[in-house]
This record gives sequence, C-alpha cells and structure tokens, in this order.
Amino acid sequence: MTDLADKVALVTGGGTGIGRGIALGYARAGMKLALAGLETAPSADNQYLSAHLGGYSAAEAAAAEIGGDAFAIDADVADAASVDAMVARTVERFGRVDVVVNAAGVITACPIAEMSEAAWDNIMGVNAKGTFLVNRAAVLQMRAQGGGGRIINIASIAGKFGTATLTHYCASKFAVVGFTNALAKEVAREGITVNCICPGIVGTQMWTLLNDAFAEPGETPEEAYARVIDRYVPQGTPQTDEDMAELALYLAGAPHVTGQAINLDGGAAL
Ligand SMILES: NC(=O)c1ccc[n+]([C@@H]2O[C@H](COP(=O)([O-])OP(=O)(O)OC[C@H]3O[C@@H](n4cnc5c(N)ncnc54)[C@H](O)[C@@H]3O)[C@@H](O)[C@H]2O)c1
Repeated sequence: MTDLADKVALVTGGGTGIGRGIALGYARAGMKLALAGLETAPSADNQYLSAHLGGYSAAEAAAAEIGGDAFAIDADVADAASVDAMVARTVERFGRVDVVVNAAGVITACPIAEMSEAAWDNIMGVNAKGTFLVNRAAVLQMRAQGGGGRIINIASIAGKFGTATLTHYCASKFAVVGFTNALAKEVAREGITVNCICPGIVGTQMWTLLNDAFAEPGETPEEAYARVIDRYVPQGTPQTDEDMAELALYLAGAPHVTGQAINLDGGAAL
C-alpha cells in the first residue's frame, strides 16, 4: 500500500458532507489538501434550493479546521475554465496533484412531467459534465507530471439502479459510472487509476432535501428518513462520511484497483 504522507489531494465539494469527510481522512493520513467549493451557483436546482451554495465558505472553514497548508478554492466543476484554474491553483501551491476526488454534486427530486429542461441541464451539468471536466484536467496534470495518480469520482448507488422522481440524478450518476470505467481503461498504462465510490445513504444536505421529497402524508422528514433506511438498507443503518473516507484512503493507495464503482451502502444495491 502506498504511503500517503505528503501526497497532494484536491477534493471538490470538499467543504461539506462526504467531500469534507474524505478531506479530513486524508489530512489525518498526512496529505496536503486543496478543498474546492462553489460559493454561488448559476442555478438553484440543487439540494440547497438556492443559488447560494456557500461551498467556498465551507471549504475555507474545513481548511482552517485541518490547518497546516490546507487551502480553499472557489471553483465551479461545471465550468471548464474554472476547473482548469482550480487544478492550476493546486499545482501553484503544492507543485503537483497526486489524488483528485470529485465529490461536488447536486440533486433535486421531481416527477418527469414537472421536470424542467433547466433542472435536467443543471443536474447533468454539475454531476456528469463536471465529472468529465474535473477528470480531464486531472489526467492532463498527472500526465504533465510524468504519469501516475488516483482519480476518485463520488457516484452513487443511484448510478446502479433507478429511483422514481430522480431520473435526472440517476442518469447523471449512471453516466459517472460509465465514464469512470471507460477512462480507467484509457489511462491504465499511465499508472493513473480511476474509480467510483457509490455511497448509499449519508445524512448530508442531500438527504435534507430527499427526506422532504420522500415524506408520505403525515410523516415528518425524520420519520421518512428512518422508513427509507429500514426499507432499502439491509443493514438497517445509514452510512457515514467516515466510511467514505476509509474507502477513499484505500483507493488513494491502491495501485491495481481501477475502473471500479464500489458500493458502500450497507447492502442496498446488492
Ligand atoms: N449523501 C448521500 O447519501 C449520497 C449518496 C450517494 C452519492 N452522494 C454524492 O456525494 C457527493 C457529495 O454529496 P453530499 O451528500 O456530501 O452533499 P453536500 O451537499 O454536502 O455536498 C455537495 C457539494 O457539492 C458542492 N457543489 C455543488 N455544485 C457545485 C459546483 N457546480 N461546483 C463545485 N462544487 C459544487 C456543494 O457546494 C457541496 O459542497 C455528491 O456527488 C452526491 O451526489 C451522496
């Protein structure tokens, strides 16, 4: 297993939820961290139901918590120039990038008849196109460094099976899984591995939105969350961002695992 101390990691969505959990795990392993987040988005079609995501402020807070030379970058994964600048800033600061984790992602819940083109475009733009842009920039940088590197895309079990009212989100996450598998084969001889983590249910802002969306008449969001976990997760418990950090640490160190989309879901997608 590779020693991760002093390796440089760039984590998008690194100020909140799963991205933050992975960043903290990487910091504990002695890695140097660039945390990217988006403060203001062009769209309110997301789990915050607002164009103000506060992702950069959150990344700044996480970087301060980590300390050392961890730092935050305001970047939009759906915008090519912003993504390229994000990688350039990381290289400017640390001289290289060894691990890129793309955890930035958005969700809404909506029946097909009510789904706007704008909502579809935003979910696909951030989750699917964002994955393409971040992975392209990562590969170009890793290649410029002479090869080698780890790319970890945070997909979802929604990239393994469909869920009603999440057609756009499921389409975007199936796209991330397929993209990852194809890119892994393309760059395999360069020592770059590309994998997905497919989380099940982690109680982040995403589930704040979904609990409201999935609540049945008379049910509180907390009751909806408990019902969904009981019904869909064989182990009967949600997963944690620490679970995601453990797998992200493993993938950051594993030289011969590539092209995989690993479910970390208590058995939900078996
Ligand atoms: N929470 C879960 O149960 C769960 C399950 C499966 C997959 N996921 C995936 O995990 C990832 C992280 O989600 P989370 O649950 O931690 O929620 P979260 O809301 O805490 O994290 C999403 C992050 O993405 C950032 N972001 C959104 N749009 C962006 C953009 N255009 N550019 C840059 N950053 C942007 C947000 O600011 C936020 O920091 C997402 O890709 C999500 O689809 C989550």
